[in-house]
Amino acid sequence: MSTQTPTQTEESSETDAEADVPSKGDERRDEKRRRAAEERARRQAEEAEKAAADEETVELKVFRYDPEVEGKQEPRFDTFHVPFTKGMTVLDALMYSRDTYDSSLTFRHSCRQAVCGSDAMFVNGGQKLACKTQIAELEQPIRVEPLPHAEVRKDLVVDMEHFYDQMEAVEPYFQTNEYPDGELEEQRQTRENREKIKMSTRCIWCSACMSSCNIAAGDNEYLGPAAINKAYRFAMDEREGEDIKQKRLEIIEQEHGVWRCQTQFSCTEVCPKDIPLTEHIQELKREAVKNNLKFW
Ligand code: SF4
Ligand code: FES
Repeated sequence: MSTQTPTQTEESSETDAEADVPSKGDERRDEKRRRAAEERARRQAEEAEKAAADEETVELKVFRYDPEVEGKQEPRFDTFHVPFTKGMTVLDALMYSRDTYDSSLTFRHSCRQAVCGSDAMFVNGGQKLACKTQIAELEQPIRVEPLPHAEVRKDLVVDMEHFYDQMEAVEPYFQTNEYPDGELEEQRQTRENREKIKMSTRCIWCSACMSSCNIAAGDNEYLGPAAINKAYRFAMDEREGEDIKQKRLEIIEQEHGVWRCQTQFSCTEVCPKDIPLTEHIQELKREAVKNNLKFW
């Protein structure tokens, strides 16, 4: 029920008559409405843009093989479409594919920050760590395969036994006959010596170098770049002493050791930790020559 009084109605009619001439207050209101509409339009455009970007997808062609499951024993490639997000890596895309499309898709990974070395793969024709490889930098469709020159266990997982055997062959641990005087003393190393071996200590045992090496592909007994680099890491460490260095040189001088390297640099090119592998191998060759020089 209306509570309006006749007096109020009269006042209101007068105001309507005056409304034909816009007041300053009206102009301010209109300006405010116009600005709000502009802001709304801007926000809508931003949201539309974001939605379009979210819809951008990446095409992966992933190697599949499972010797234990009937119907999957024949190697093939499966295609996955993954929504692209800024900063996405190959490992992110594989995890999305596994979690969204096919939970049987198998690959190794752990740290997701280029530290554990478990996700080396063959991506678009090169050995790479999946967690360190940006999707935005790759041509599409992205082809993901297991590391070449290694036996495939399932999908992207290869047998690492042989690689670990070669690493073990160079005794990849610190040895010394010279101990510090005090029981609690540290084994000291000069700054220069630390600098010399610094890069060689970065190896994460990913096997990318071994997979890229033509010599290793043709000679199963070749120690390989990673194992020789590991030998370098200790042979050049001044704290181990001359006796141990002698033993290490004997290991890398063997028939399938440093002399098999033909300086093709493929290992150096693919190493995700930027270790100058070929340089280290050449330096050990020089050490081996010096070690065998005899003066009468
Ligand atoms: S040397 Fe480089 S490529 Fe080879 S196993 Fe070590 S980190 Fe990987
Ligand atoms: S997941 Fe550890 S190195 Fe890539």
